[in-house]
Order: sequence, then C-alpha cells, then structure tokens
Amino acid sequence: MHELVCVGCGPGDPELLTVKAVKAIQSAEVIACPTAKEGKPSIALSVVESLIGNPEIVNLVFPMVKDKDTLESTWEKNTQILADKVLEGKKVVYLTVGDPYLYSTWIYLHRELQEKFPQIKISVIPGIVSMFTFASKVGISLAEGAETMAVIPSCYDLSRVKETAKNCDTMIFLKDGRYFDQVIKLLKESGFSDDSIFAIGQDLGTTNEIVRKMRLGDVNESTLTTKYFSIMVVKRA
Ligand SMILES: C[S@@+](CC[C@H](N)C(=O)[O-])C[C@H]1O[C@@H](n2cnc3c(N)ncnc32)[C@H](O)[C@@H]1O
Repeated sequence: MHELVCVGCGPGDPELLTVKAVKAIQSAEVIACPTAKEGKPSIALSVVESLIGNPEIVNLVFPMVKDKDTLESTWEKNTQILADKVLEGKKVVYLTVGDPYLYSTWIYLHRELQEKFPQIKISVIPGIVSMFTFASKVGISLAEGAETMAVIPSCYDLSRVKETAKNCDTMIFLKDGRYFDQVIKLLKESGFSDDSIFAIGQDLGTTNEIVRKMRLGDVNESTLTTKYFSIMVVKRA
C-alpha cells in the first residue's frame, strides 16, 4: 500500500517535535515541504534540518494569494507532485509548521489526495500549535473554567471580530501582524478594557523570537509587529 505521512513540525524549535515525528522524518526517502515562493527556503524544513540525513527534498510552492482560481490550481498541481512521489513507491513525508489541521497547506492537499488518489493511505502526526507554545512562554491560560476563546486569522474580513469579541474571553489572532492595530481598536470598541491582558509573540522558537506581555491599555505602535509569523492574544482582565 502506498503511504504518505504528514508531520506537524511544531512552532520552530526542533526540540518541540514529537518522538513519532522525528522517527517519520528520519526514515523518509523524500521530504516535501511548503514554501511561499520559488527559491525561498521552507520554514517547516528549517525546523527539521538538523535531524535529517540526505533525503530528496521537494519544495512545493504555495503563493500567498487569495485568488480562488490560483489557489485551486496550486493545490491541484502540488497534490499531483506529491502523489507521483508516493506512487513511485518512496517513503514520503510532508512537513507543515505547527499542527497540520490549523490553517495549514496540508488541509487542501489532504482533501485533494482523498478525492483523486484514494489508493494512497494517509497518516497525520500532530504538531504543537503555535498559540499553545506562545501561551507557555507568556504564562497565560488561554481558557479556564467557563471561559471561551476564539481563534481568528487577522488577514481576512475583520468585520466579524467585534461580534466574536462580545462573546469571548480570550481572542487569539494568527496570520499577518500588519492588521493587529486595527484589531486592537475593534476589541476596545467591543468592551475589552485597558486592564485586559495583552501578549504578542513573533518568530517563536527561532533566534529572532520576540515575546511581550502587558496591559492592553499600555500597548502602543512600537509594541506591535507587522510580521507574518506573529501571534497576538488578548484576554479579559
Ligand atoms: C499558516 S498559519 C499555520 C499555523 C500552524 N499550523 C499552527 O498550528 O500553529 C501561520 C500562522 O501561525 C502562526 N505561527 C505559526 N508558527 C509561528 C511561530 N513560530 N511564531 C509565531 N507565530 C507562528 C502565525 O500567526 C502565522 O501567521
């Protein structure tokens, strides 16, 4: 039976890979990984580089665009490349940052593979999600007791932020720090007081890591980030 393993690589620190993930990566003949541009190093690959020998590396380009046709043709093309490697009889591992089922390229590949290549058996090894790594670093409980939390990608329509914020105790924003200032304004308008806990993290698990925690009322422009690999958590006081 032809098999493909997807491995969640966690937030960036190779020591935060599971034992199962390391075993799968080290026995792979082909490692496939996502990258945003042709020639740009894959972040997922950089997490595991110190652990691998000399497997064949296949970079799959997923341009960061929102156009539906471009996205669909990208998923189709990359699924075909991946499936071809698996059907050659090779041990193939696909890498993704964090966990494969949270805002990951894997979600689309998995869907396409199931539909077009049902003969390929798929196994998925979960990874540590970036927001949980962040919570550990800043010592914030994301939810306790009866509290609720929401996870929001901050690069899409932000009109839902206010409604969600009214019904949530903890708001977690992923993807694209460029919109975090707009998001903070919306949170304040929906009742998050100056005493709310605010934390922001950037490039977690790497040498460029930045982690900050303060009151929401103390946040100013210099606190924020415009980086894509950023997380912001705001929790009611
Ligand atoms: C495409 S999503 C992937 C999420 C990933 N599957 C996970 O489980 O965390 C990318 C977003 O996750 C967050 N992220 C993932 N890894 C991160 C890291 N090492 N440092 C900061 N943010 C990270 C950022 O918000 C980034 O924009």
